[in-house]
Amino acid sequence: MTTFYDLFMAPLEKRWLTDIRKSIMPTASGKVLEIGFGTGVNLQYLNCDQIDSITALDLEFRKTNAKCAEENIIFVKGQAEELPFPDASFDTVIETLVLCSVTDMEKALSEIMRVLKPHGQFIYIDHVLPDDKTLANLFKGINIFWPHIASGCNVTRTPHLSIDRHKIDHTISGHKANTVFRYGIVTKQ
Ligand SMILES: C[S@@+](CC[C@H](N)C(=O)[O-])C[C@H]1O[C@@H](n2cnc3c(N)ncnc32)[C@H](O)[C@@H]1O
Repeated sequence: MTTFYDLFMAPLEKRWLTDIRKSIMPTASGKVLEIGFGTGVNLQYLNCDQIDSITALDLEFRKTNAKCAEENIIFVKGQAEELPFPDASFDTVIETLVLCSVTDMEKALSEIMRVLKPHGQFIYIDHVLPDDKTLANLFKGINIFWPHIASGCNVTRTPHLSIDRHKIDHTISGHKANTVFRYGIVTKQ
């Protein structure tokens, strides 16, 4: 079923998100975990030749747009704040547009760092509170009702700043749409 959120995101996907996904997803390699897998929109941008396995974690699963058909996708029901995997289990963790709606963002980020192997890479795209003051105030106003109509999505979070507080090195770091979208690839130290 197409949700209000899907309809809202469609033009943003076309204008910005597709290009961002294309630019960073081909870096994923080895044993890959994607949290908040959704319908699997990132699969089509992965370089399947360098991937051993994909573990797809979500609270619930909808129909998958899987293009990496030959890949072995392991579906796991679970939540980002309590990942059901041992420490240092994955070479790559992918998270796109999920940290806005998790209950505890800091815990989810700590879990991502825990399950990453040393020198493993974290690939992310988030919408965040923009730098521009006027736009940020608008987002704060919208956030009074937005989570209630958009599946718990918050538009006032700053996950990129929280990511920077972990022991990581930046490989790629960028923003689009007047800093509404932040994305990057960071390597765990
Ligand atoms: C906005 S969708 C993003 C889907 C996809 N990653 C993308 O880039 O389009 C957010 C997804 O995160 C999942 N999600 C929300 N809270 C979560 C949590 N605490 N743990 C794991 N997944 C969660 C939702 O079920 C949904 O599939």
